[in-house]
Amino acid sequence: MGFLAWLLSQCRRPRGCVGRFLARGMNREHAPMTDWALSQVSIRDSRCVLDVGCGGGAALMKLANLLPRAELHGIDYSPESLKIAARTNRHLIREGRIFIREANVSQLPYENEHFDLIIAIESHYFWPDLKEDLAELRRVMRHGGKVILVGGVYFGGKSDSRNRKLAAIGSMNCQTLAELRETLCEAEYADVEVHEEWKKGWFCIVGHKPPRGEVDYTPDA
Ligand SMILES: C[S@@+](CC[C@H](N)C(=O)[O-])C[C@H]1O[C@@H](n2cnc3c(N)ncnc32)[C@H](O)[C@@H]1O
Repeated sequence: MGFLAWLLSQCRRPRGCVGRFLARGMNREHAPMTDWALSQVSIRDSRCVLDVGCGGGAALMKLANLLPRAELHGIDYSPESLKIAARTNRHLIREGRIFIREANVSQLPYENEHFDLIIAIESHYFWPDLKEDLAELRRVMRHGGKVILVGGVYFGGKSDSRNRKLAAIGSMNCQTLAELRETLCEAEYADVEVHEEWKKGWFCIVGHKPPRGEVDYTPDA
């Protein structure tokens, strides 16, 4: 395995001391993208939030500042990521504001309709089956809730050729923004919004679970 493939496998599932180092690094590196994404979407009414693939937990800490009354949960299937997330948020965890646990996105350990906001930053490319996993997120989401996928590896953007290389080497499920929109619609999200920060090469895509009783619909692409 070449160096880049190894590094991407560490991003997919951080392991050992390198994994912990990487999770800390991603806390720093992903902060500007996370701030940008959270400024694109209204989240202020969120009361119960899940960060999927929470990594080193920096986004959970940001959300705790933005949403002082919300209950915040993070899951990750990497114990090394969770160790860093636990350290990053030790005070908030002790105060009972943040809860983290080891879990796979494909089988979430939560009851139906638990969260009103679900966010995943630089994580969805690594999930086993994006459409099915988005359906699992929809299961644990309340009616009227939203999912936000954020990242910098997608096709058709400013860094298209770099991203095609990363996707091939790292076996990442990358798509164009139009394809991602379609995937969210297929997973029965409504009112899908796509935001792109072209200069930075970031995207943020938002899907909604319609309020109870409202007919689902698929918006025009
Ligand atoms: C590139 S890191 C991003 C971490 C964090 N969201 C951030 O922005 O710094 C991807 C994270 O997603 C987690 N992950 C990948 N696939 C997952 C899955 N199927 N279930 C749960 N977590 C997953 C990895 O373990 C890793 O911690």
